[in-house]
Amino acid sequence: MLQIPEHNIPIVEIKTDFDVQIFIKREDLIHPKISGNKFWKLFFNVNQYLENKPENPLLITFGGAFSNHIASVAAFGKQFNIPTIGIIRGNELENNWQDNPTLSEASKNGMQFFFVPREDYQNKEKLTQKFSEKYPNSLIIPEGGSNEMAVEGVQYMLGNDTKDFDYLCTAVGTGGTIAGISRFAEEHQKVIGIKVVKDDSLGKMIQEWSRRNNFELIDADEKRYGKITDENIRFINWFYNEYHIPLDPIYTGKIMQKIFDLAEKSFFPKGSKILAFHTGGLQGIKGANQFLKSKGRELIAE
Ligand SMILES: Cc1ncc(COP(=O)(O)O)c(C=O)c1O
Repeated sequence: MLQIPEHNIPIVEIKTDFDVQIFIKREDLIHPKISGNKFWKLFFNVNQYLENKPENPLLITFGGAFSNHIASVAAFGKQFNIPTIGIIRGNELENNWQDNPTLSEASKNGMQFFFVPREDYQNKEKLTQKFSEKYPNSLIIPEGGSNEMAVEGVQYMLGNDTKDFDYLCTAVGTGGTIAGISRFAEEHQKVIGIKVVKDDSLGKMIQEWSRRNNFELIDADEKRYGKITDENIRFINWFYNEYHIPLDPIYTGKIMQKIFDLAEKSFFPKGSKILAFHTGGLQGIKGANQFLKSKGRELIAE
């Protein structure tokens, strides 16, 4: 069994001229490699699995070649001494994954890879069946790590220090994080999920996990899902200079820019106290910079 680690995560004020107060909770600092929401989403899944004392424990999961989740599962396995397998979307990196910063770090943390053509990767049910037959004692964690146990784990991102805020804001990918925040938020709090992926089924999924109606989903940038935009890079670099907090270009950079945008447009009532969760993802900056450099574009501060 894993012990819940001591955690004392700072909440930092982001001073602005807006008529609201903005704060950020540095969940990215919980662990140098398993940052933010990923730590809590994995914690109870793995703990429950280990409770049954599996013979030769093994964690298996899915993700893209730059995935924060893949990086986190590998680091989690290393930290708690459990072997890991990553089923990677697309087989184009099968022979040169060493150049990909996420995969090379995951491999250093002991992860073994299976590269799967994109068409086959879509069929997770079939893949899950195949891997559970091959490794019957393993724990197969869904892509992005969101499930009921992950939602339970997210409660540890909330505590006495988050109770006074009027708004709790987080990035939404697979929905487990916002569902946990929504489930465990105080009665008076409103939860804002900033969507960074196009998935129209997210609202329903989150509702099922959270069982509450205290959340609202807002698009980060509906026309440019998954894209790294120059405007966002400028924002991230400006934010880093101003507040000395790094942001990634897929999740946290997008949500902070959106929160600033919403504050400017008076979306939040005057005087509101807003808390954004820094859910990590900073490992992704290296891969993003590799791509940006190849295109001759501005790089991201790290
Ligand atoms: C850095 C970061 N922030 C936010 C999220 C979104 O979390 P969720 O998939 O639970 O919606 C992810 C994905 O796990 C992530 O890697």
